[in-house]
Amino acid sequence: MRKKTVQYIKEYKWSNVFAMIRNNRKDPKICNDDFKDKLVVITGATSGIGYITARKFASKGANLLCINRNPEKSKKLRHEIESEFSVKCDYRIADLSSLKDIFRVSNELALLDTPIDVIIHNAGVYLTKRELTPDGFEKVFVVHYLSSFIMNYLLMDKLKAQQKARIIMVGSEGHRFAAWGLRLDDLNWEKRSYSGLKSYGSAKTAQLLSMLVFNEHFKNTGVTINTMHPGAVKTETGQENGPIYRWFKRNFFDKTLKSPDISAEALYYLGVSKEMDNVSGKFFNLTTGEEPAPPALDKEVANELWEETLKIAGIE
Ligand SMILES: NC(=O)c1ccc[n+]([C@@H]2O[C@H](COP(=O)([O-])OP(=O)(O)OC[C@H]3O[C@@H](n4cnc5c(N)ncnc54)[C@H](OP(=O)(O)O)[C@@H]3O)[C@@H](O)[C@H]2O)c1
Repeated sequence: MRKKTVQYIKEYKWSNVFAMIRNNRKDPKICNDDFKDKLVVITGATSGIGYITARKFASKGANLLCINRNPEKSKKLRHEIESEFSVKCDYRIADLSSLKDIFRVSNELALLDTPIDVIIHNAGVYLTKRELTPDGFEKVFVVHYLSSFIMNYLLMDKLKAQQKARIIMVGSEGHRFAAWGLRLDDLNWEKRSYSGLKSYGSAKTAQLLSMLVFNEHFKNTGVTINTMHPGAVKTETGQENGPIYRWFKRNFFDKTLKSPDISAEALYYLGVSKEMDNVSGKFFNLTTGEEPAPPALDKEVANELWEETLKIAGIE
């Protein structure tokens, strides 16, 4: 662990931090192409970035398959999108903090007989207090990382057989909060003090590390995988936290945040633009390529995490 910390300190570059600050002010590139009759899978399409992104893809003619946890919101979303845009907006209900649901919905997707053109792993939570899932895992780690890992893993054969697909993981500049790297010996936060920023940073770092390995598995198959930071935007995130957090969010943070329209434009560009053909294994701040923090580029840890994830997820 100490060896890694020294390694990361040496690898940190101020130029990358300045680039991030500059990129945070940029608007996303816009793609005006249609995406008629394509199929887009989006997790967490019932609010915030996922919702606006679902509307954006539907407005360009794409059919949607949303993976949501809330049946009422999903029905409302389907009605709204199908009546407004005349596309199909199907959904599956899954709690992406439950391994049973993640496996069920991933297997259902793997059995679809139509190609999936774009998959957007968007669902996420921000928790200030450590919560365990019914499977005994820390919740932020499961919703952000484990669910997207399992889904990508179980869809690998289908996507390769299609010879064309784009996977986009909604990551975050917040991965930089895991400044000293991922603690593979404590993925469940049993040995350290827990904080919202640290657990969020670790989960988003894990997601970026998994991208390095998936990218190798998808090499020369026509399938690409990228991660993007969707901007600092005003959404429903953090509503599971206590009243003090929510009060600060409403009265302070929210006032500084942008509209999630920029996130949807960026996701549409990354999912559809011809300029993104064959671009894979990259991290984008909206649509600007950026170098993640050193702990998220550590191939050695990425391979160890891969093996550990297969073990904890119970995948052969
Ligand atoms: N907002 C930002 O500034 C920002 C910045 C960087 C990264 N991000 C990332 O952007 C993504 C979207 O977040 P957001 O800001 O749009 O937040 P949001 O408004 O809270 O939306 C989160 C979505 O995820 C769903 N979700 C949460 N837990 C779930 C679970 N266990 N199973 C299934 N679905 C679940 C929510 O469903 P319900 O509607 O049922 O709650 C909702 O649809 C997240 O990955 C987040 O980390 C956001």
